[in-house]
Amino acid sequence: MRRSAPAIAVLISGTGTNLQALIDASATGAINARVAAVISDRRDAQGLQRAREAGIEARQIRVGPRQRPRYDAAILGALRHLQPDLIVLAGFMRILSPEFIETFSDRLINIHPSLLPKYPGLDTHRRALEAGDTEHGATVHFVTGELDAGPRIIQYRIAIRSDDTPQSLAERVLVGEHIILPRAVGWFVDGRLSVDGNRVMLDDEVLPHPIIVEGT
Ligand code: GRF
Repeated sequence: MRRSAPAIAVLISGTGTNLQALIDASATGAINARVAAVISDRRDAQGLQRAREAGIEARQIRVGPRQRPRYDAAILGALRHLQPDLIVLAGFMRILSPEFIETFSDRLINIHPSLLPKYPGLDTHRRALEAGDTEHGATVHFVTGELDAGPRIIQYRIAIRSDDTPQSLAERVLVGEHIILPRAVGWFVDGRLSVDGNRVMLDDEVLPHPIIVEGT
């Protein structure tokens, strides 16, 4: 019997262009995986629509403020049921509970719009400009309990131009996010990429530094 392709669950909060990159990479066969489910914490997330258009189960899981334990339990339950091979946080703007991270820590990756360890958290493009940085980019990393600080897998790097604004940087970095996220997912579902504590393993070797993709 033919085994179906590995299943990815994607958690989103917004536009979902990274989700779209994964849907497209799956459709063209660039990655040997299918996006099995999309979960959003926001009902108006455009990514939910993208998922539905691609025939993917898409749902919003939402609870009110101060109900974080219930939220995490709901999302944990949904994912336990789905049993995805990989969970991708693609513009998912909530902080997940330690229990959630512990449960999925060997198969949970995030994309973040900075050259981590620089600028964890929000507003990364403005912060890079205000610091006078000469380069900027995005990082795909395994998720740990510390925000945006897990072991790094791959980075997209560009030179900051003198006329860049936070908006132009966001657009230029996003182009690269759509390259590095499917690449990391592809490695993972092909069994080439894993995490061992704080070490990233790629092709049976410890990855001492993230793989760098230079952009323009
Ligand atoms: C991306 O820059 C992602 O890295 C950040 O939020 C943005 C989401 O973009 N955390 P999209 O929803 O994938 O279009």
